[in-house]
Amino acid sequence: MSAEPTPIEEAFPEDLEGAIRELKEERNAVLLAHYYQEDEIQDLADFVGDSLALAQAATKVDRDVIAFCGVHFMAETAKILNPDRKVVVPDLEAGCSLADGCPADELQAFVDKHPGSKLVSYINCSAEVKAMSDLICTSSNAVKMVKHFEGEPLVFAPDRHLARWVSKESGRDDIVAWPGSCIVHEQFSAKALTKLTMKHAGAEVLAHPECEQAVLDQADFIASTTGIIRRAVESPADTLIIATEDGVFHQIEKELAEAGRSKTLIQAPGMDESCACNRCPFMRLNTLEKLYLCLRDLKPEVTVPPEIAEQARKPIELMLKLSA
Ligand code: 13P
Ligand code: SF4
Repeated sequence: MSAEPTPIEEAFPEDLEGAIRELKEERNAVLLAHYYQEDEIQDLADFVGDSLALAQAATKVDRDVIAFCGVHFMAETAKILNPDRKVVVPDLEAGCSLADGCPADELQAFVDKHPGSKLVSYINCSAEVKAMSDLICTSSNAVKMVKHFEGEPLVFAPDRHLARWVSKESGRDDIVAWPGSCIVHEQFSAKALTKLTMKHAGAEVLAHPECEQAVLDQADFIASTTGIIRRAVESPADTLIIATEDGVFHQIEKELAEAGRSKTLIQAPGMDESCACNRCPFMRLNTLEKLYLCLRDLKPEVTVPPEIAEQARKPIELMLKLSA
């Protein structure tokens, strides 16, 4: 029986990275990547960053095509900011538990129960949710964005852990949070972390604000992926325990190597030691092979209905303006 080969069964060039570089030029494409991508993808990218930096980079694109290596909501944000450019992704299935767990119609019903409230949405949400939001935030600017609505009732979606952290940091105890969470950051075990820190006295614990409170309580430093990388490089500590996806290790190690230094990097332990649950299964759907195909075929393409994009652009642009 003959069958059309699925793309992944195709023969790939021996020098896949070289072929990707060539295709990138041929297609006049820019490659934007998040820190949770595999090392080789990060090294091929024209720009690697956290969600805020990636959104900012998307406003400066001068190429015809954006090849976005991250998850769907990030590529969608790039498309909203670049309605006339083609945005392609290696794998259209690369979603996010936060975005997928917050359908716009259900969020609208939730918001309707709090009339007069402003809606601040974490960038980890769909274009439809962005379109109904007053302001977008990322983990690196959430406290500042919430303060923008000082004195006004607030609904925060979709991450309840980020909402709780922001509430503490901003001194606002009246924030109403949508009950979403990140399946990756919720996997870190506070109990196992306590044991690990006892074993490594002097180690600094760095955590992403999507973690549970019991993990954040043990952190010396809480920040976005960029913030964690910066602190890991600059901290006086030689051993760092890191409670976020271990894709960030690559940039930390690279920057340390450039400075002729090295440190011991340990990922915070998960609840189930037999699985790699602390790796984002969505981010890791992107592979070099799929990136090659997406640049070769210019698909799968990320599209956003123009009327949704127009509405969604407003709270994103407000965030970018307030973050400048
Ligand atoms: P950052 O904006 O900190 O990179 O976070 C993105 C994300 O999805 C964390 O899980
Ligand atoms: Fe979403 Fe969590 Fe993956 Fe980040 S790590 S993209 S929040 S599922």
